[in-house]
Amino acid sequence: MCGIVGYIGSQPVVPVIIEGLRRLEYRGYDSAGIAVAGNSSGLELRRAPGKLRNLETVIADSPIYGTFGIGHTRWATHGRPTEENAHPHRDCTGSLVVVHNGIVENYLALKSELLCKGHKFVTETDTEIIAHLIEEELKQSPGIALEEAVRHAVKHLTGAFAIGVLSANEPNKLVAARMGPPAVIGIGDGEFFLASDVPGILHHTRNIHFLADGELAVLTRNGVTLTDFQGAALPLKVQRITWDPIQAEKAGYKHFMLKEINEQPRAIRDTTLGRVSLDTGKVFLDNLAITPEEFRTANQITIAACGTSWHAGLAGKFMIERLARLPVDVDYASEYRYRDPIADPHAIGLLITQSGETADTLAAQAELIAKGSKTLAICNVVGAAITRKAAGTITTNAGPEIGVASTKAFTAQLTALFVLALHLAQVRGTISDAESLHLVDELSKLPGKVEDVLRSVDDQCQQLAKIFHNANDFLFLGRGVHYPIALEGALKLKEISYIHAEGYPAGEMKHGPNALIDEALPVVTIATKDPSDPSSVLKYEKTLSNIQEVTARSGRVIAIAIEGDEEIKHLVEHTIQIPQAAELLLPVLEVVPLQLLAYHIAVRRGCDVDQPRNLAKSVTVE
Ligand code: F6R
Repeated sequence: MCGIVGYIGSQPVVPVIIEGLRRLEYRGYDSAGIAVAGNSSGLELRRAPGKLRNLETVIADSPIYGTFGIGHTRWATHGRPTEENAHPHRDCTGSLVVVHNGIVENYLALKSELLCKGHKFVTETDTEIIAHLIEEELKQSPGIALEEAVRHAVKHLTGAFAIGVLSANEPNKLVAARMGPPAVIGIGDGEFFLASDVPGILHHTRNIHFLADGELAVLTRNGVTLTDFQGAALPLKVQRITWDPIQAEKAGYKHFMLKEINEQPRAIRDTTLGRVSLDTGKVFLDNLAITPEEFRTANQITIAACGTSWHAGLAGKFMIERLARLPVDVDYASEYRYRDPIADPHAIGLLITQSGETADTLAAQAELIAKGSKTLAICNVVGAAITRKAAGTITTNAGPEIGVASTKAFTAQLTALFVLALHLAQVRGTISDAESLHLVDELSKLPGKVEDVLRSVDDQCQQLAKIFHNANDFLFLGRGVHYPIALEGALKLKEISYIHAEGYPAGEMKHGPNALIDEALPVVTIATKDPSDPSSVLKYEKTLSNIQEVTARSGRVIAIAIEGDEEIKHLVEHTIQIPQAAELLLPVLEVVPLQLLAYHIAVRRGCDVDQPRNLAKSVTVE
């Protein structure tokens, strides 16, 4: 997730782009850059690592001027957050630049083809490939227009992209194309804008065309023309935007948390992109600097993490043990180094962290390394502290998470863990090709199913919030891989609504917590099953017994169940239905209604959803 702003018109371009990027900084802030043209010096570039203010300093020291240009604020996916990897990226000639939001899945294959044709690359990014592809098209068909070359080039790309392209050889023209990530075109009075999102240009114009997948726009001083990727003309559909700027930053949602809950289908999709083959079921995690042999001979995985990331780790234990038959220990990072842990060079440490800066998790990593273990990180921030010490990182590609309560980073972590578990299983030979293919197919359907859940359960969660927002306590129950989701549901509710909540393994109730049950206690119970998995069905049946134990004591059960489960409806007061999925992927679907329930309860109680009291997004002290 990155932010793009482009401008063509009569205003000085730099302030327009910088101001736009500032309003899009929530989309990424690890580096920024700008390219301008329309002056006697041709195409000029300024870039800087870190936040936008660093770019402003660079421009103040070395000003640039022009009347059209493109800028970018980056959230790294491929390549560290350095100046070289900051956008815009150039072709070999230096006369053409590209900014990009998204992930080019086949960039390694394209890169090797282009290397054979003599192209030289100077960055670690996937984006640079796009500039070289366009250059190649211009070389192959001399005289074609820039938009024609872009049209041909994007046909080679698989993955997701929203791009802006500028060429010194065709001044006064800006080309944009989209397949996946958002992009909007702003129609002003004699001036035209490109942006990743409405807030980037809302202070200049409220007349917006939302670029659709497969659309290519050419912006000149005279207007905007639109075609599909085959070159057929399309009409502009200009809408008048009435949001205020703050609403716009939240894409019209009332809170960042709600926006991020709704971004989960994309976060999950981007976390799998380029890492699995739907044709063969094969997982590609080749850049982890842990050799297949090391994975084969590993005797244990030790997971250390905090809070929501720790819950992802607990679910990861079920995934890895089940698929790869490798023992997994899950530790609170804050506890790990204080218990004189046993680790050895054959154990692999796995740190899970959204921010990559959590002090406890960094300390656990240091302890693991001191004990001779190699460490892997699952992290949402490329270049964060944890990734610098890890032998390898699986980036979660959820994009920046602004709401303090983690939502999309969590489901992206579950997705990354599932991909890792599959990879380990393939390397260790504990999974058949047919099973791999089946699970990769299930994984590919997950974003669509999350979309279904988001559509179907929100109203019901609002209704439930109306009924239960005054409860003093909540219980959340689950078994097996669903138990960490019960913990996560309880944590979400606690942290944003300030209601006391506990997550429990459903089978443990009779060993004590049953004493808490009365007619005032809402008990959210995860009672899903994968009918093709006998152990899942068995767990489900046991959970039904646990539900009956609760209702027999007048507890009020809200069940999370699979669509079409009629049996459970007769047992409980409320049922929230989610689609069928493979057992190890169900947690991703189960947590969505729990996030929404916590959200709507917190809103009803008038709590500060995005910045709950006493909490911080990154906990950089022990
Ligand atoms: C809860 C939450 C926290 C974080 C925890 C670890 O919603 O966000 O519990 O999960 O502070 O943070 P990271 O993942 O950045 O290490």
